[in-house]
Amino acid sequence: MQIAIDGPASSGKSTVAKIVATKLGFVYVDTGAMYRASTVLAQKLGLDFGDEAGILAALKHADIQFKPDQAGQKVFLNGEDITLAIRTPAITNNVSQVSALAGVRTEMVARQRQLADQGQVVMDGRDIGTTVLPTAEVKIFMVASAQERAKRRYAENTAKGIMTPLATLQAEIELRDQKDSTRAISPLKKAADAIEIDTTQLTIDEVVDTILAIVKKNM
Ligand code: DC
Repeated sequence: MQIAIDGPASSGKSTVAKIVATKLGFVYVDTGAMYRASTVLAQKLGLDFGDEAGILAALKHADIQFKPDQAGQKVFLNGEDITLAIRTPAITNNVSQVSALAGVRTEMVARQRQLADQGQVVMDGRDIGTTVLPTAEVKIFMVASAQERAKRRYAENTAKGIMTPLATLQAEIELRDQKDSTRAISPLKKAADAIEIDTTQLTIDEVVDTILAIVKKNM
């Protein structure tokens, strides 16, 4: 069984997808982390974030691995732990550019399908239901208002000691939404057969329970 969870930045996909995967004993694949790892790779090599040929050449030999961890999942690039590096503002603010490169997407989609072939998966991203796993048995499209998503990110940041103003966070989220949904290839889009869940007024547990109920119906 394949479960595809798509939605805009900070809609809570990863948090929810991880819990759903754990409850079902499925593998969790965070595809956003793969595009972020590609962005870290470009940064490390000093490549321009629009240098498709350069990034693609480096990516062909790059090993991106996920390893389960008590705190969730660790991400490794060529054996180096980049779990924290992929969440820095420099990467967050440039990942949309790297993920819009056609060659990078082709390479990532192939890797994502390989991961899905290994068993039962919960995969989250922007184009999982539309492009990566078009025959997934369950497709969820998670949305929440930009204001609510900024508030959630603000609370997460404050807990980590990061003090970005709420208005800046909301502006960054809206800009990323706009870039992710207007790019030429595989833009963020709800699949025709996806079930939309608006999480603005829901707790994490309520979203998880809603998805588990949908999964049960499809089993
Ligand atoms: O989910 P996230 O914020 O970690 O994703 C980082 C970026 O990667 C996001 O701005 C858009 C891109 N992305 C994508 O284009 N396709 C995916 N399947 C997942 C993420």
